[in-house]
Amino acid sequence: MSKFFKYKSVAEIEAENTRLGIDLRFTDDLSPLFAPIAIGSRVAGNRWCIHPMEGCDGELDGAPGELTFRRYVRFGAGGSKIIWGEACAVNMNARANPRQIVLNESTKGAFAKIVTDCRAAHRDANGSDSDLLFGLQLTHSGRYSHPRPIIATHDPILDPRTVVDKATGATVSPEYPLISDDELKRLVDDYIKAAKLAVEVGFDFVDVKQCHRYLLNELLGARNRPGLYGGSFENRTRFARETIQALRAALPSHIVIATRMNVYDGIPFHKSANDDGAPDAYTLPLANGWGMSISDPFAVDLTEPLRWIAEMRRLGVTLVNATMGNPYAQPHYGRPFEYPPLDGYESPEHPLVGVDRHFKATEAIQKANSDLALVGTGYSYLQEFLPQAAAANVRDGRVSIIGVGRATLAQPDLVRQLLDTGKLDRKRVCRTFSYCTALMRTKQHPMGQYPTGCPPFDKEGYSDIWKEVQQLNAKKTPPADE
Ligand SMILES: Cc1cc2nc3c(=O)[nH]c(=O)nc-3n(C[C@H](O)[C@H](O)[C@H](O)COP(=O)(O)O)c2cc1C
Ligand code: SF4
Repeated sequence: MSKFFKYKSVAEIEAENTRLGIDLRFTDDLSPLFAPIAIGSRVAGNRWCIHPMEGCDGELDGAPGELTFRRYVRFGAGGSKIIWGEACAVNMNARANPRQIVLNESTKGAFAKIVTDCRAAHRDANGSDSDLLFGLQLTHSGRYSHPRPIIATHDPILDPRTVVDKATGATVSPEYPLISDDELKRLVDDYIKAAKLAVEVGFDFVDVKQCHRYLLNELLGARNRPGLYGGSFENRTRFARETIQALRAALPSHIVIATRMNVYDGIPFHKSANDDGAPDAYTLPLANGWGMSISDPFAVDLTEPLRWIAEMRRLGVTLVNATMGNPYAQPHYGRPFEYPPLDGYESPEHPLVGVDRHFKATEAIQKANSDLALVGTGYSYLQEFLPQAAAANVRDGRVSIIGVGRATLAQPDLVRQLLDTGKLDRKRVCRTFSYCTALMRTKQHPMGQYPTGCPPFDKEGYSDIWKEVQQLNAKKTPPADE
C-alpha cells in the first residue's frame, strides 16, 4: 500500500531518480562505509552514526527511564561507531516535553550507567569499543519548551502556531517577551555545567544543538531580533559562538565539540483541503530564518551556514551533523516520509526530492570542507537501498558519515546486519509510515507524554504502547500495513 516507494531493485529506484531529475547515486561496493575516520583527536571505526532520537521516556526529574536504557544498549550492540545521544535539556525549563532527559547532579548516575551499558553491549557484540564515539546532544527547546515557550524572536508565521496556554489555546502574541540578552548570557553557564557532567559520566562528544528551530537555531535566523543577539550575522551567531568557546576552554582536549545544525529552515506548512501539505502565507523579504533566500523561502541558500561552519571549525568544532526543517511545522523537509503521522499532511513533494535536498546541501558543505567529519541526514526513506546510496555518497565525497534515524529504531543492529550478511534484514526495514512521530505527538499520558519507538518492528518494546495510543485515537487510524 505504499504511495510513492514501489521500488524492487536499484535499477527501479535509479529510473525514478532519472524521472524526477534528481541526483541519488547507488553502488554495491559498501566498503567506503567501513573505513575509519578521524574526528578531532579521536578515530571512529566506521562511517555509521545513529542520529539523535529522543524516546520521550525519561522520568519526570529528567533521569533516563527503562526504555531509554534499552535503546542505548540496543544501539551499542548495533555496530555503528558513532552514537549521537538524543536531545538532553540543559535545564528543566529547556525541555521539549515533561519526559525529555536532563543531565544534572541528581540524574548523572543514570547517565553514567547508560554510557557504561552501551559500551559494554558494543564490546559484547562488536569486539573493541576503543573506536566507538558516544556523544550527547545538549538542547534548549526555545519556542517548543515545556511548560512555556521561550522565544528568541517574533516569527510572523510560527508565533500564531506556538501555544502559550494549553487551557485557553492562546498563542504567542506580539507582546510575548523574548528571552533577554542577560538571560542568554547566563544560559551559557547551563551549557558548561551540562557539558562538564557529560564528560564526567563518560561521553566522548557534546553537541551544541542548532537545529529544528529550537532556541539556538531560532537565534541563527533572528534578523529581526534587537540587541546583541539579533540582526547581523555576528550577533545571530553570538550565543553559539560564546557557548562553543566556553566549552572548548572548559573541556579536556580529547572531548570532541560537535554541532547538529540546520542548513535550511524552510517555512511552515499546513494540511490543505486535499490533505497535501501547503506552505503557510508569508511576506517578503522574510523577517527571519536560516539557510534560505530572504526572497524565496523554498530556495536553499548555504551562504551563511557555510560561513558559520568555517568559523565554528576555527573555534574547535570537529564534528558537524547537517539537518534541516522544523519537525512540528514541516516534517517532510527533515524526515521524508511515505505516510504522515495522524493529523499530519501528506508529503507535498515526492519524498525522494526531499532526500535529494538533504544530499545536495550536505555535498556542498562537504566539498567546501573536504577534511571535515560531516554527518548527513535523510537516509531512512531509502529503505532497503539505504546502504547502496550511503556508500555512493561516501565514495563520491558528498558526505563523510552516514547518519541514520528511523531506520535504526526499526533495526538498531543495521550495521551488524550489513557486516554479517551484506544486506539489511528486509523484515525490519523502516517503511516511514510515521508511527514513531505519532507517538511523540501523543500527550494524553499520566506523565504528560507517551514514549516513542518503532511499534511495527519493535513489538516487544512498543506494541502495547501503540495499542493504547490507537485506542485513544480510535477514529483516526493511520495506514495499517506498515
Ligand atoms: C522519534 C524521533 C525522535 C527524534 N529526536 C531527535 C532529537 O532528539 N534530536 C535531533 O536532532 N533530531 C531528532 N530526530 C530527528 C532525527 O535525528 C533525524 O534527523 C530524522 O529522523 C531524519 O532522519 P531519518 O530519515 O534517518 O529518520 C528525531 C526523529 C524521530 C523519528
Ligand atoms: S514507526 Fe518504525 S517503521 Fe514506522 S517510521 Fe517510525 S521507525 Fe520507521
